[in-house]
Amino acid sequence: MRRSLIYERFSLSWRNNSMAELVWKNKHHPDDQHKITAIPLLITHQQHHPQGESVDPLCTDQWRNRLILADRCDALLALQPEFSDSVNLIYIDPPFMTGRTFRSGREVAYKDTWHNNLDTYLQWLYETLILLYPLLAPDGSLYIHLDWRVTHYARVMLDDIFGGNAHADGAGFKNEIIWQYQSGGRPQKGYARKHDTILFYTKSEQYTFHGERISERRGTHRRNHMRKAIDEQGRISWTIRSAGRIYSYHEDTLMSPSDVWSDISHLHQKDPERTGYATQKPEALLERILLASSEENDLVLDCFCGSGVTPVVAERLGRRWIACDQSEMALRMTSERLLSSERKWPFSVQSLE
Ligand SMILES: C[S@@+](CC[C@H](N)C(=O)[O-])C[C@H]1O[C@@H](n2cnc3c(N)ncnc32)[C@H](O)[C@@H]1O
Repeated sequence: MRRSLIYERFSLSWRNNSMAELVWKNKHHPDDQHKITAIPLLITHQQHHPQGESVDPLCTDQWRNRLILADRCDALLALQPEFSDSVNLIYIDPPFMTGRTFRSGREVAYKDTWHNNLDTYLQWLYETLILLYPLLAPDGSLYIHLDWRVTHYARVMLDDIFGGNAHADGAGFKNEIIWQYQSGGRPQKGYARKHDTILFYTKSEQYTFHGERISERRGTHRRNHMRKAIDEQGRISWTIRSAGRIYSYHEDTLMSPSDVWSDISHLHQKDPERTGYATQKPEALLERILLASSEENDLVLDCFCGSGVTPVVAERLGRRWIACDQSEMALRMTSERLLSSERKWPFSVQSLE
């Protein structure tokens, strides 16, 4: 299959012309570059089966998770023929123009420098998002993890690709999640930047969402404006009068989660979860996203898997996964992490032909 066929099938025909469009120098649809090139093929180097599983080499129809060493565009193109409209949940934590080179010890894990050229970065991000969109199942969700440097650009781009409207109903934008943490220093001038932003988009108005699986206890929240009461059984309740009505609830009732997450801490230096990969995210963060936006056996994709947090959590929660990274160090760490954890399915390690 040729790349052009894929792009034709998934060109921006869904583009809603009433949306604002972000423009940068040399902006182009990736199709313009790749019209005549055949799509890349993935080859398998290794298969890792769960411990104790007997392997039938003739059995080719068994599901295999995939760990791919490749640039995200090549991998995403190679996945299109088999997986278009099939991925239930995408989580990506791409480089976000920090201007830094990330190392583990002396080894470079990856560079996030872009010659300080925002146009180059925006084109790169755009190509990634354009190739992710057609892989998403009609009821699928995408979460993209960014920070103050580029979130605003990504949001305009995603509104353009996913469509949607200003009221956030229907397809497109669902939430801007603020992941608040305490690590890092405090500047003298200006406010300390203590959060990342995770944008949540869906391909349609039908999508998987289980707030009840990640609900918070009301009791964990401070409320200065409410009156506290304790009943005969010792249960605490909180009451407020508003617009002539009385609202009251018990402290141990559950409520759906808000878009500010301040209960998941950054991995500190001595955290047992730490692999040594520079920008590793906590498993608790992925656990929340996977529980809310996917079902068991669903397919989860991360094309910037780094230390492997997404596939590791997907395994633990019984989700199938495809993970990719262009860094050999990332592949090594992810592979090691997976091999030392309990697994439900085999996984193949692949790269481009
Ligand atoms: C912020 S890190 C991801 C960290 C990961 N979420 C974790 O918790 O370990 C970004 C990753 O994107 C990878 N990356 C950068 N450019 C890439 C590209 N063009 N294709 C595939 N991976 C890329 C880097 O190697 C790096 O591992």
